[in-house]
Amino acid sequence: MEAGHLRIVRTVSQLREQISKYRAARETLALVPTMGFLHEGHLSLMRQGRASHDRVCATLFVNPRQFGPSEDLKTYPRDEAADIAKLRAGGVDLLFAPSVTEMYPAGAATTVSVSGLTDCLCGVTRPGFFDGMATVVTKLLLQALPDAAIFGEKDYQQLLVIKRFAKDLDIPIEILGGPTVREADGVALSSRNAYLDAEERARAPELFAALKAAAASIAARAQSPDAAIKAARQRIETAGFGPIDYLDHRDAETLASAEATDRPSRLLAAAWLGKTRLIDNVVVGDDYAPTKRPLG
Ligand code: PAJ
Repeated sequence: MEAGHLRIVRTVSQLREQISKYRAARETLALVPTMGFLHEGHLSLMRQGRASHDRVCATLFVNPRQFGPSEDLKTYPRDEAADIAKLRAGGVDLLFAPSVTEMYPAGAATTVSVSGLTDCLCGVTRPGFFDGMATVVTKLLLQALPDAAIFGEKDYQQLLVIKRFAKDLDIPIEILGGPTVREADGVALSSRNAYLDAEERARAPELFAALKAAAASIAARAQSPDAAIKAARQRIETAGFGPIDYLDHRDAETLASAEATDRPSRLLAAAWLGKTRLIDNVVVGDDYAPTKRPLG
């Protein structure tokens, strides 16, 4: 993307005013919601938006409603100046960075809650997370009304939940997924990686390595899924992860336990490394079969 002019707005009315100018010029718009502390994973979604749309709008809002009482809202890493520089260099057109009161004025009393998909995985270990996430994403989608909104596959359950409520609520916006961006050693980029100390960071690649090995083993039918998962759990425990919130083989659409082998499936994991909770997920299937290209 070309470095260009980044416009920064902080209220819903300014956001709508700017977007109405794009619309008047018949320009298409992609929205990329974030909580900031931007990295290459976020920026890849901006590039994806730029490749398919005339304008890209990023949002930056650390959403208090998606943090549990014992979670890291207070310490969540923030650096708005650095984020703005990255968006500017990346050629993003518009940044919406609202305050908490702009997003949740006094009296706000509505929650978007998705059942089914949120009953498992992160829905169990982070109660309230998906309600808070779905509520803020619904608001952002309706505030901006873009043609498409783009979310990372790194947060795979989040992506499925967003697709679900967008469909259920007839929100006329295409929900797109973008592939997980990783460090050279396989660690999925995450704002929360900033919490890892040097020793933890050195152990962190084992999460993806264990998932990748288990996925290859399941795809090649070298091991039963149960045995492959057990080995993956042992591998990350040996590397110093624990507790493991989950490490499961799930249907890629419904997140039900993967049983029928003819349906697309994924391995998904969340595990603690010291005080940091890391999540990751991989496809089980062609990409991981030994005869196919290894996934970087
Ligand atoms: P945040 O964690 O800041 O992530 C913003 C977007 O970037 C999400 O769609 C996430 O899946 C994507 N992302 C994060 N790491 C990535 C990586 N390594 N590769 C590709 N994409 C990656 O997810 C949230 O914020 C919030 O829940 C939000 C959707 C903004 C609602 O508050």
